[in-house]
Amino acid sequence: MKIKLLKLFSFRMILIFLLLMAGVSQVSAQKNDIADEQKIKGIVSKMTLTQKAQLLIGTGMYFELPDSIKKMMGPMFKQEENTDPEYKAMVDRIRTFVPGAAGNSSEYPSLGITTQVLCDGPAGLRISPIRKGVDGTFYCTAFPIGTVLASTWDTELVTSVGKAMGSEVKEYGADVLLAPALNIQRDLLCGRNFEYYSEDPLIAGKMAAAMVNGIQSNGVGTSIKHFAANNSETNRMSVNTIVSERALREIYLKGFEIAVKEAQPWTVMSSYNKINGIYASESHDLLTKILRNDWGFKGYVMTDWGGGSDVTAQMIAGNDMIQPGTPKQIDELLAAVKAGKLDEKVLDTNVERILRVMLLTPHYNQYKNSNKPNLKAHAAVTRQVATDGMVLLKNEQNTLPFSSKVKNIAAFGNTSYDFIAGGTGSGDVNEAYTISLIDGLKNGGFTAEEELSTLYQQYIKATKATHKPKNFLAALMGGKEPVAEMEVSKELADKMAAKSDIALITIGRNAGEGQDRTTAEGDFSLTATEKAMIQTVTEAFRAKGKKAVVVLNIAGVIEMVSWNQIPDAILLAWQPGQEGGNSVVDILSGKVNPSGKLAVTIPKAYADAPTAKNFPGTEIKSDVVDNAADLSGFSFMRRVPWQIVYEEDIYVGYRYYNTFNVPVAYEFGYGLSYTSYNYGKLKVDKSSFNGEITASIEIKNSGKVAGREAVQIYVKAPAGQLNKPEQVLVAFGKTKLLNPGESQTLTFKIESKDIASFNDATSAWVVEAGDYQLMAAASSLNIKQQATFKVASEINAGKVSKSLTPTQPIAVLKK
Ligand code: BGC
Repeated sequence: MKIKLLKLFSFRMILIFLLLMAGVSQVSAQKNDIADEQKIKGIVSKMTLTQKAQLLIGTGMYFELPDSIKKMMGPMFKQEENTDPEYKAMVDRIRTFVPGAAGNSSEYPSLGITTQVLCDGPAGLRISPIRKGVDGTFYCTAFPIGTVLASTWDTELVTSVGKAMGSEVKEYGADVLLAPALNIQRDLLCGRNFEYYSEDPLIAGKMAAAMVNGIQSNGVGTSIKHFAANNSETNRMSVNTIVSERALREIYLKGFEIAVKEAQPWTVMSSYNKINGIYASESHDLLTKILRNDWGFKGYVMTDWGGGSDVTAQMIAGNDMIQPGTPKQIDELLAAVKAGKLDEKVLDTNVERILRVMLLTPHYNQYKNSNKPNLKAHAAVTRQVATDGMVLLKNEQNTLPFSSKVKNIAAFGNTSYDFIAGGTGSGDVNEAYTISLIDGLKNGGFTAEEELSTLYQQYIKATKATHKPKNFLAALMGGKEPVAEMEVSKELADKMAAKSDIALITIGRNAGEGQDRTTAEGDFSLTATEKAMIQTVTEAFRAKGKKAVVVLNIAGVIEMVSWNQIPDAILLAWQPGQEGGNSVVDILSGKVNPSGKLAVTIPKAYADAPTAKNFPGTEIKSDVVDNAADLSGFSFMRRVPWQIVYEEDIYVGYRYYNTFNVPVAYEFGYGLSYTSYNYGKLKVDKSSFNGEITASIEIKNSGKVAGREAVQIYVKAPAGQLNKPEQVLVAFGKTKLLNPGESQTLTFKIESKDIASFNDATSAWVVEAGDYQLMAAASSLNIKQQATFKVASEINAGKVSKSLTPTQPIAVLKK
């Protein structure tokens, strides 16, 4: 019957019908747009200048802090409130909507303007879990940190996390999640690296796009942050990032470009720092020429909390909303318009952008949130995703997965008992629970050596009572800081080796917003106590013919070569979210075969890093006083004149190590599995590139257990007029779960923009002529298959605006 019908309609008729349908839907979409635009213009025409200013400036920062902390902060704790009774009543009302939200925009019901509730981000929704006088709890799922998500090399999985996260945003009544965060992990010591994805912009961009698509599929918004070149925390409110246009376009902007083009986030958060002398939030080049004109961004831009210094410049730059906003800033804005320094039309444009997003929000659409997201289902998501992102770094003599003889496990290291789900600061989620490694072992059917457990628990309790936090902001925001490690004597290690089947040694680290890490012991380096623990425990167990496994529960990379030869196996668990202990045990037990690979290089020593010479920057000796801290209400954040010069230029991460042949501890893309894979021949559909090429490769599971392989495609471009790194990641993919003997062909489309370099002189992306080498690899140093293609003559891959030009010459690193 179907066939007959099909015959009746000729192919041409079907085509005409489809075209007509497409036309119809386009017209109706346009009609909607026109209707929306009219609605927006109508609202703006009724707004007073004061209402416009109030909408553009957020409704202020409101901390529900315990009195003890307020006292500790003393005069630094200022909550400036607007005294206008009507405005104050509105603010008091909207603050009750989602307690613990980071910010709000004003609402004017009579004008049809609803508030937008803005909440952190990015490892899950951050709101107050308990509300005064309200029954029930409002806990959210702590998902694995960004670094874990990137290490999955699986964008579909990341979208599934986004879907789950976005449904919590919606069900708890928020409108925009202040996430994802996708700054480049430029230097290993950046305190916020855990929130970010990778040292590579393609991974950062693809992961962010996948996350935005997942979150926004719920009908709630995202704010991709921190735009841009915000790669350190030291003096983050005032640091001037000095960087070439090429490094900006190829490294620091590229991920944002991908996320904007592939996912259209509702909002973008400009960063605190300056770029080549101008605050990101005041940069017309960044927020208008690049973001909107070059890339086609349609939403609105908000400042980071307290960022920038001049509201007029921010408005003109296209930074539409100031967060969290202070009464002083509203006054400043009004004064600027009245003095003729700021055209009201600029405000109208910015208000319109905010309203355009408002029309999409749950609040505007009167969504009745349940306050009951499916936390159980989301716990299952986080448990699985975390296993996909853990990286097995070492596995001598198949120590892992545990053999069937392993039953009773001796767990050393404080963090085994006090596991860290995620980092500190605004990225810290208020989750209902964290599964520790010990809980995970029990849930997995193992026993955790009793005597040792008791010893550790007593030690942790006693040490916490006297622990002085090192990171003030982290402590303020409820972050977990691991306490000093307990000393493990030979006697204790011997006793445990006699009683149990295997040793687990957990090393824990935390980090976060407002403070960079250091190379000190207990931070990047292991302490003498930690090293001794690994040594003593491993020796004791080895003497009994038993093994020792190190689990790293860390926010960022640590030093490894001084100790990694000691234990039998090392699992890099990162900070895997609230189901952490279960996820780790799923890997240790073999329930899940590890498939995570590093999205960041682990060098041998910190000094080997290309950024080590200039991180975290230097003080600029000048007498310029910036009073912006007072204006933005962030007077507790000192603004020290500070600068950092990105001398390594485009040679960030593996682009540096692999070009300059610097040996590393574990290279970018590295990760072991319990099985092995065969890479078939790398095929390309043409030998001459004319703007696009398709590559494919068959991956076969050649081992004994089922597994997934993350496949990396790199390009080595010919030396031409522009300096080129040894190799650049241009595509990646991950197989499905392949059974032993099973194969899958992965296909990758590579376009000009993927292999182009940026030419500062012409502000254009160019694919230079010559022979290109395409590599299919298991890691950046483990190239499995190669193919070549030719570019006959130079291809212009797109001209963009001349923007963000450095005001001083930069002595950049060259090959
Ligand atoms: C952070 C942002 C965060 C905002 C709101 C800022 O200090 O840098 O990432 O979204 O606070 O909490």
